This record gives sequence, C-alpha cells and structure tokens, in this order.
Amino acid sequence: MQRDETSDRETVLAVSGLRKSFPVARSWFGRHRKSLRAVDDVDLSIRRGETLGLVGESGSGKSTLARLCLKLIEPTAGQIRLFGEPIERLSPRAMRPLRRNLQMVFQDPFASLNPRLPIGRILAEPLRNFRIAQGADLARRVEALLARVGLPADVVNRRAHEFSGGQRQRIGIARALAPEPKLIVLDEPVSALDVSVQAQVLNLLSTLQDQAGYSYLFVSHDLAVVRHISHRVAVMYLGRIVEIGPVESIFSTPRHPYTEALLAAVPDPAGRQRGGTRRRGPRLRGEIPSPINPPSGCAFRTRCPLATQRCVEERPALLGSGDHAVACHLRQA
Ligand SMILES: Nc1ncnc2c1ncn2[C@@H]1O[C@H](COP(=O)(O)OP(=O)(O)OP(=O)(O)O)[C@@H](O)[C@H]1O
Ligand SMILES: [Mg+2]
Repeated sequence: MQRDETSDRETVLAVSGLRKSFPVARSWFGRHRKSLRAVDDVDLSIRRGETLGLVGESGSGKSTLARLCLKLIEPTAGQIRLFGEPIERLSPRAMRPLRRNLQMVFQDPFASLNPRLPIGRILAEPLRNFRIAQGADLARRVEALLARVGLPADVVNRRAHEFSGGQRQRIGIARALAPEPKLIVLDEPVSALDVSVQAQVLNLLSTLQDQAGYSYLFVSHDLAVVRHISHRVAVMYLGRIVEIGPVESIFSTPRHPYTEALLAAVPDPAGRQRGGTRRRGPRLRGEIPSPINPPSGCAFRTRCPLATQRCVEERPALLGSGDHAVACHLRQA
C-alpha cells in the first residue's frame, strides 16, 4: 500500500487518513463530551472499472465510510480525492457539478423511490437536474435507461409500489446510472432480495460495469455476495480496514484472524457452490465492542484467539506486499 495511489490516473476515488466521529450523548456523571469514531484512519482507493467490496459486521462503519466517500456526510479529518482533486473541503455548492460522477444505490429502493411519482418522472429528474436531456430527448433517455436495467418501456407510468423488490432495485440502479456516473456506491443493494433475485441483480451490475466501466464501492455483510461481484475486498472492523486485497487472495489466503473468522462463518452452501469445503478456523466469539470505548492496541484483540501483549499495547498498521495488506502483528511477515 506504499504506492502513491492518489496520483494514479486510473484511480477514480482515493481517501487517506479518513475519520468520522459522531458526538454521543454525555452521561449525567460524565465530565467530557464523548464521541464515537465510526471511521478511523482509513486509506483506500478505487480504480476505474473496479469493484471494491467492503465487508464487516454490523456497526463496523461500512455505511459511514460509504457516505463519506460520496461526501453525503462531512469527514472529521482526512482527504478525499476524486480524479486526484481534493474534494473534502468543497462546499455543497462547489460539489454540485461533481455530484454527477458519484451516485448511490440503497438497500431498500422502496424507501428511496418517491411513491407518489411515476417511474418515468423519477428517472427524468436526474437527467433534468444535471442538464443531460430535455424535451423529447428526455423520454428517449428514460426508455434507454429502463432497457439497460432490463425493464420494459411501458413501466414509465407506474409507481414504485407496483413493482417487486428486484424490479424496484433495477429502478434504483437506473436512477443511479442516469447521470452517467464514474463511481456508484452500493450499500447492501441485494440484502433485502431473495437469493435467486440477488444473483440476477448482481449479474446486471457486472454487465453494466463491463459495458460502461463504472467503479463500484459495494458494501455487504454477505461474503458470498461480495465474492461474486468484487475485484478487491476490504475488511472493516470497528472503523478500520484490517485487511485489503484481491478477492482471490482474501478468500484463499486470508491473513487477518478477523477475516478468517468471517470466512469460517460462511454457511455450507456458499462453500459447496464454489467447489470448496467449509473452511476450518476460529469462530467469531462475542460481540463487536462499542466504538465509544474501543479496545487499546488492536481493536480485534478482545475476540482474537492469537492476541498477545503487543496486541494490547500497540495498534498494528495496515502493511503488506503488493496489493494484499493486513493490520495484524502476528500475520505480518
Ligand atoms: N449519525 C450517527 N450518529 C451517531 N452514531 C452513528 C451515526 N451513524 C452511525 N453511527 C455509529 O457508527 C458506527 C458505525 O455505523 P455504520 O452504520 O457505519 O455501520 P455499518 O457497518 O454500516 O453497520 P450495518 O452493517 O449494521 O449497516 C455504529 O456504532 C453506529 O451506531
Ligand atoms: Mg450499514
């Protein structure tokens, strides 16, 4: 991870030293105002046409990191570069023309699609806002968007509640594609769908990426899904990236005990589908600690079967060779 990724021309988005703290209510006896570090010193980059999968248990900071990358929330510290240009300090107004490049797909498309508006209007809105199309061209563009996500043109007059979950997610994807973005952040986009529908939506996302070279930041707690779609995978624990690498090496030779434990928890069918057997390894013990009072040193040490005194005292840096890096004192060769 020593390569200067921010200057790589193929890099769409790069963040470094990224932090987000949220204030938390002060207890009646507390003297200091406490804060919760949801994202803590994260470095990562996403290249053109690449899917970076982001995994971790609930509360590990995936959604917060996803929102920071799109500047939907402001970072507490750190840098965010879009095509090499720093954007972390840009005002909402200055961000406006850049927004076109950055789109988001949510877990629950129903919650994010206005139920009063027909689909045609929902898809026309970004085209109009970003001055991509108007008049007769608008209808043509909307139709083309629907075709790209595998929906017939006659759905334009129907409303979101008339569609199945999978169809609604296709509409959510079409809306994200409307301004021809460079990066699409997808936060648990298939988690609410049946497994068979999940596969269809994942295949659609891959096809769209092959056609148009979109970069995806794909957030999921489901490792089988992440394995299916990602080129690289980042594993998050208590606000930090603990391991990052190409999808094959993360799944074949995980190095962080947390990654091993996550993989060991993947149910049998996922292993069999891919011709593998279920992995033997440590099972994840206990709950993820509170980010208000994270453990000293390595945040994972309270649940780690390998932890030593050094893990209590010293926070491991994310280090590695080539593309695969790990933050673990015991697994850094
Ligand atoms: N607006 C906020 N105010 C205070 N705390 C927040 C806020 N948003 C998130 N958090 C806290 O930050 C931590 C990370 O939350 P986040 O939603 O990013 O996790 P996540 O990995 O996306 O989890 P999940 O898998 O459940 O979606 C959690 O402890 C959460 O309670
Ligand atoms: Mg989340």
